Amino acid sequence: MTAATVTRGLVDIRNVHKSFHGTEVLRGVDLTVQPGEVVALLGPSGSGKSTLLRTINHLETVDAGSVTVDGEFIGYELRHGKLHELREREILQRRTQVGIVFQNFHLFPHLTAIENVIEAPIALKRLSKSDALELARGLLDRVGLAHKADAYPRQLSGGQQQRVAIARALALQPKVLLFDEPTSALDPELVGEVLDVIRDLAKLGTTLVIVTHEIGFAREVADRVVFLDDGRVIEQGSPDEVLSRPRHPRTREFLAKVLG
Ligand SMILES: Nc1ncnc2c1ncn2[C@@H]1O[C@H](COP(=O)(O)OP(=O)(O)OP(=O)(O)O)[C@@H](O)[C@H]1O
Ligand SMILES: [Mg+2]
Repeated sequence: MTAATVTRGLVDIRNVHKSFHGTEVLRGVDLTVQPGEVVALLGPSGSGKSTLLRTINHLETVDAGSVTVDGEFIGYELRHGKLHELREREILQRRTQVGIVFQNFHLFPHLTAIENVIEAPIALKRLSKSDALELARGLLDRVGLAHKADAYPRQLSGGQQQRVAIARALALQPKVLLFDEPTSALDPELVGEVLDVIRDLAKLGTTLVIVTHEIGFAREVADRVVFLDDGRVIEQGSPDEVLSRPRHPRTREFLAKVLG
């Protein structure tokens, strides 16, 4: 293994603060995710989970603190000891290191499954069209959708659309993959097929940060469970520690609710 593969995907979040219209929604978050680690991020609605994920790939700027991936800022550069936001084009290039999969898939409706997957590698001039198609066929196969390459999103089930969205995120070969409630828009019988794909990614050693309310899944795949409440990490540890023996009353309250 080369040094480059050993250091892939270290996420370092330090003292991140973020406010919207004067309301602080991230209040000093510290979180380090090791390369290959799978972190499940749990917390009540409004606790800042999506905002935190979005700061990792600079879909959201931070007011204070820093986020780096393998030591590099995604949206900023350090000049004379100060952080300056990069230009849009550079941000787009660097953002490709961090893939994100959303609750509602966000596929391009006018493009077929395979066209959705090849769009970014071609737009960012990473690959020729024929190389992108070859990569995309492989990725669609990996998510079990080789036979749906030419289908449009409206012709696919929610679970299939989400698997295309995962293939699309993988097409840029990100160091880190973020999932924001990837199964919560799905009918219950379609949840399993998406979780199977995420489980495979976890086994392959991709660094994953997964916001989920699927507690059973978090217990099974996560190396670490992090509980966010009111913009702060209030508890973290192994799935067994946090899910079976939560120390913080807010964690207990949350788990009692989601486990019904
Ligand atoms: N772009 C925005 N403008 C204003 N307020 C925002 C924005 N994005 C998020 N917020 C607010 O920040 C807080 C945290 O939101 P966030 O979406 O991060 O929570 P969450 O933990 O992901 O919740 P949920 O489980 O409901 O998805 C909420 O009060 C939300 O209303
Ligand atoms: Mg959210």
